Amino acid sequence: MAKKFPYDFIGEVLITQEQIHDRVSELGRLITQDYQDSEKLIIIGLLRGSVVFITDLMRKIHHPMTMDFMSVSSYSGSETSGFVRIDLDHKTNIFGWDVILVDDIVDTGYTIQTVRKLLLDRKPKSLRICALLDKKERHKVETPIDYLGFEIPDHFVVGYGLDHAQRFRHLPHIATLEPVPVT
Ligand code: IMP
Ligand code: MG
Repeated sequence: MAKKFPYDFIGEVLITQEQIHDRVSELGRLITQDYQDSEKLIIIGLLRGSVVFITDLMRKIHHPMTMDFMSVSSYSGSETSGFVRIDLDHKTNIFGWDVILVDDIVDTGYTIQTVRKLLLDRKPKSLRICALLDKKERHKVETPIDYLGFEIPDHFVVGYGLDHAQRFRHLPHIATLEPVPVT
């Protein structure tokens, strides 16, 4: 019988707590600077992966802002389908608002592309994309990211909000997962 190889083992630390802290501070500084004249700034995070990132990031934004969340699913296990379903919509009417859409990681780009189109239909004043991580080599659709934390190689990663089967979100750093045989 073929052995199963679940991703169930924490590999190496890819990005440390300190590196994340420094980069998130820098992103907050850039956003603060870019939106200094904004009258209505809202950050919309995608549940659940962006929660840890967004709560750190918002405390580095020194400008009046509000926050909201959406939940979408496009992912089962570590495979992606290209089909994105809206499970929970944001509550705020974003007409005329400066919106920053925040996700944990851009992989194929389907999630960001789909949500971006949906939000643009709602006529915000502006819309920019912020992502903590980007697996650029895996993009299947063009996905411009205005504020990016780190570009990473094609590894499945967990921690700092990112999960595998809902686990590992609480890790303070970003780590890779190694496949290990089930014995
Ligand atoms: P995309 O639609 O293919 O860009 O997928 C983006 C979503 O897939 C992210 O919001 C994550 O929830 C999930 N995802 C993609 N790669 C990883 C990973 O390496 N670790 C954890 N989640 C991931
Ligand atoms: Mg996600």
